[in-house]
Amino acid sequence: MARMGMKIISFFDVLRCLASLLFFVGTGLGDLSYSIPEELNVGSVIADIAKDLGLDVHGLSHRKARLDSDGSSKRFCDVDLQAGSLTISERIDREELCGAKTACSLKYELVLESPLELHAITLQIEDVNDNTPKFLNDKVKLEIRESAIKGARFPLPEAHDSDVGRNGIQNYKLDNSDHFALAVHSNSDGGKYSELILENELDRENEEEVRVSLSAIDGGTPQRSGTVEIHVTVMDANDNLPVFSQPVYEVSLAENAPSGTVVATVSATDADEGAYGEVTYEFSRISDKAARLFTIDSLSGEIKVIGPVDYEEKHEYELRVQAKDGAGLASNAKVIIEISDVNDNAPLIFVKSLNNPIPEDTTPGTEVGIINVQDKDSEGNRQVRCSIQENIPFKLNPSVKNYYSLVTTAELDREQLTQYNITITATDEGNPPLSSSKTMYFSVSDVNDNAPVFVEQSYSAYVTENNKPGSSVCSVTARDPDWRQNGTVFYSLLPSEVNGVPVSSYLSINGDTGMIHAVRPFDYEQFRSFKVQVVARDNGSPPLSSNVTVSVFITDENDNSPQILYPTPEGNSFMTEMVPKAALSGSLVSKVIAVDADSGQNAWLSYQIVKSTDPGLFTIGLHSGEIRAQRDISESDSMKQNLVISVKDNGQPSLSTTCAVYLLISDNFAEVPELKDMSYEENNSKLTSYLIIALVSVSTFFLTFIVLIMSVRFCCKTKPRLLFDGAVAIPSAYLPPHYAEVDGTGTLRSTYNYDAYMTTGSRTSDFKFVRAYNDNILSAGNTLKKSSHDNSDCINFFDNGSKYSTLVRETFLLPSQ
Ligand SMILES: *[C@@H]1O[C@H](CO)[C@@H](O)[C@H](O)[C@H]1NC(C)=O
Ligand SMILES: *[C@@H]1O[C@H](CO)[C@@H](O)[C@H](O)[C@H]1NC(C)=O
Ligand SMILES: *[C@@H]1O[C@H](CO)[C@@H](O)[C@H](O)[C@H]1NC(C)=O
Repeated sequence: MARMGMKIISFFDVLRCLASLLFFVGTGLGDLSYSIPEELNVGSVIADIAKDLGLDVHGLSHRKARLDSDGSSKRFCDVDLQAGSLTISERIDREELCGAKTACSLKYELVLESPLELHAITLQIEDVNDNTPKFLNDKVKLEIRESAIKGARFPLPEAHDSDVGRNGIQNYKLDNSDHFALAVHSNSDGGKYSELILENELDRENEEEVRVSLSAIDGGTPQRSGTVEIHVTVMDANDNLPVFSQPVYEVSLAENAPSGTVVATVSATDADEGAYGEVTYEFSRISDKAARLFTIDSLSGEIKVIGPVDYEEKHEYELRVQAKDGAGLASNAKVIIEISDVNDNAPLIFVKSLNNPIPEDTTPGTEVGIINVQDKDSEGNRQVRCSIQENIPFKLNPSVKNYYSLVTTAELDREQLTQYNITITATDEGNPPLSSSKTMYFSVSDVNDNAPVFVEQSYSAYVTENNKPGSSVCSVTARDPDWRQNGTVFYSLLPSEVNGVPVSSYLSINGDTGMIHAVRPFDYEQFRSFKVQVVARDNGSPPLSSNVTVSVFITDENDNSPQILYPTPEGNSFMTEMVPKAALSGSLVSKVIAVDADSGQNAWLSYQIVKSTDPGLFTIGLHSGEIRAQRDISESDSMKQNLVISVKDNGQPSLSTTCAVYLLISDNFAEVPELKDMSYEENNSKLTSYLIIALVSVSTFFLTFIVLIMSVRFCCKTKPRLLFDGAVAIPSAYLPPHYAEVDGTGTLRSTYNYDAYMTTGSRTSDFKFVRAYNDNILSAGNTLKKSSHDNSDCINFFDNGSKYSTLVRETFLLPSQ
């Protein structure tokens, strides 16, 4: 608009000039026109108007010549009346007067009076190059994007010069510029302006600001110019990719690194500025697994651990990281994370095979188990050593690779240890080492390798005679440490004979408990001891057994009363001892001989006179049984002396027998019959009654016997009958007492046999008597046979087929004085 306005004004100025020219021409003669440069000094003479008008100088002053201007206050010029010249009275600035108008003139009228005369004076003001081209500002700021291409144009501000025409701006000039050229153009109004033309592309990263100076030059002489500094700020363009500091980042990370551990920091720089240079990071290619483990800080580029990193799962991760600037330009780098092993896996022990249970007879060196050891770690961390505890009969032998075989090193004994807990410890060679252990339970299975063993080496049982059948005698125990049936003990008696009779007739044993029972009552007087072998057998296959000797000692009971051997109680006649009349005090008169089938105290006899004709005359030795005169026999003493003697054993309670001894004090045998009569008479009545009783008994017995025979005959036809239940045959006949002495070891003493003899008036203290007794048995058709197996001390009696053996030992050791 401003320019438009200027143009319009100029146009009017031109019209006015043309008009004034016409006027000047029209006025014709007398009009003056001068051309002067502007800025003349005051007082400078423009022209000699007096002369130019043809007037006298004096006439001017006389005619009061003066200049009239058309209304303007400023006159600029004056007429020097003295010199008749036109002079400058004020400074004339063309630019002030006419601005940009090319034609500039001042118009005056010279007025002369008397006569009035008018002369037009026109002053053409010519431009002088008195103005310098000027830019509006000292500095011009330009912003050019570095991405601007060659040839791009950037308009520059126009300079201004108040002068006109040639003195106006004629040209522009650019200084020290590598990048730009200048193009100068003319305005429609004749002005000039310029444009920068990019010749070499800009690079902000190289040069952020380019300074050039633009000069505007006018065409005056001398030339004038004005300069403006142009600051070209190179605007950034996103022309740079972010650049990583390394193309590949290789880092090592220990496994199990805690969450938050910084693995690596990638960094990329972008030379661009601002948002274009702001780099953000992200994973451009990452496996799902790695994505669960690592994260990247988008701003700092720190890669951190967020999950459990396990070397055993994966040894290496390769990630791609992308750095992107604000405008989306991106570049990639590779991050290789190598996971280093940490000894975090304890060895694992696997039992691959197990022979359980182990029989106890396994030979040493037998393999009983195979173990495999594994460790997931690597290198040293996976080197594993295996061991088992010591002091057990096992060892671990390394086998192929990670296999070990467990072998026995010694015989096992289930009876000592039934179970082995073998703890295998595996330790790796990491730092610190890790170890684990596993316990294998082995049981040792039984083999029947132990025979039953009796608790005692031998057993002795003491049984009092006349015991009840079934009473327990003793108990044997054998132990077998084996298992179950291999250790179950059964007891039995080893078949043998005692006195020719199977031992089972005497004893029985409870197979389970080992309790030995008597089958029948024992008679000390029959035998005093016997031995039996008990076998203990286990239930194994094959069974093992052992035996033990049980010695049964029968102890005496006072069950036999003393038996008088002399004087014979049931002898055919009363025995009468003759006592010499001259017998002195202390002389042996007679002797009572008694025996007791019992033994020991039960057989220790004592003699006592319980009744006598003349109590003071005879005494009897308490233990010897010797009857002696207590005083010298005198004539006055009665010829017939009767003594009743009691023989008593020392048992508890004691048993006793009495007998009568008849003594005849006489030197003459003729007196004896008288004595006999006396004695017969004395006992006649008694004898008669005995006879009657005997007769009645015999006949009763006979009748009963007949009846019994008959009934047995009938009964046997229907059903055989046994006297006792059980296999033991009991002899029906009366058995005589047997005299046997058993010493401590149970062996029999050597035997002494004596002939029977009688002494009368003998003074020897030893009075020995022996007699084959029980003639009735021997004579009853039984055969008497010497047993072959004993030291001729055993005689076997065979009675109705049943064998019955007794020791017939006649040993009378009579107490001696
Ligand atoms: C073996 O282990 C079992 C159970 O753990 C235990 O009852 C037994 O006493 C152990 N035996 C030995 C010999 O240590
Ligand atoms: C007993 O020993 C035999 C070998 O002598 C063996 O085979 C058996 O298994 C054992 N019995 C038990 C119950 O252990
Ligand atoms: C009894 O044991 C002994 C040794 O202990 C042995 O010599 C003998 O043969 C055994 N007798 C029987 C019948 O088993």
